[in-house]
Amino acid sequence: MTVTDSLPMELRSTEDIVTVRQMVRRQAVAMGFGIVDQTKIVTAASELARNTVDYGGGGTVRIEIVRNGIRSALRLVFEDQGPGIADVEQALKDGFTSGHGMGLGLGGARRLSHEFEIDSKPGTGTRVSILRWK
Ligand SMILES: Nc1ncnc2c1ncn2[C@@H]1O[C@H](COP(=O)(O)OP(=O)(O)OP(=O)(O)O)[C@@H](O)[C@H]1O
Ligand SMILES: [Mg+2]
Repeated sequence: MTVTDSLPMELRSTEDIVTVRQMVRRQAVAMGFGIVDQTKIVTAASELARNTVDYGGGGTVRIEIVRNGIRSALRLVFEDQGPGIADVEQALKDGFTSGHGMGLGLGGARRLSHEFEIDSKPGTGTRVSILRWK
């Protein structure tokens, strides 16, 4: 398996989220993802980027291209040094929000991805990684 990754992009503002959406879309198109799959990964990216900005106090995202034989995938790794999530199980449940959201972002991103990993510790920060095969 080979991984090609981009430099981490800053996620601080709504503008940065728009930029990430564009970068993910561009990469998905370049890899030959169909329109539906493009939209799935862009939507998941958007939700996780929004969480990074809103709850993580800002952070970074890395866009990675994973190749395994003839298969290829897009992997996105979001990281922040924010407050972290005390109860990850609860945070993943549809409808749970600590803010004013709908509580659908994390669960939605998980459903839109083939692989989903979350690592979060209170006081340390949060790392969410998603992968979608072409
Ligand atoms: N990066 C993060 N750092 C700290 N807490 C987070 C982070 N991402 C998510 N959370 C916590 O997990 C909860 C659930 O996130 P989720 O994205 O599912 O819902 P939401 O952001 O509250 O609402 P929505 O995404 O539907 O607008 C958030 O309310 C927040 O408490
Ligand atoms: Mg959210």
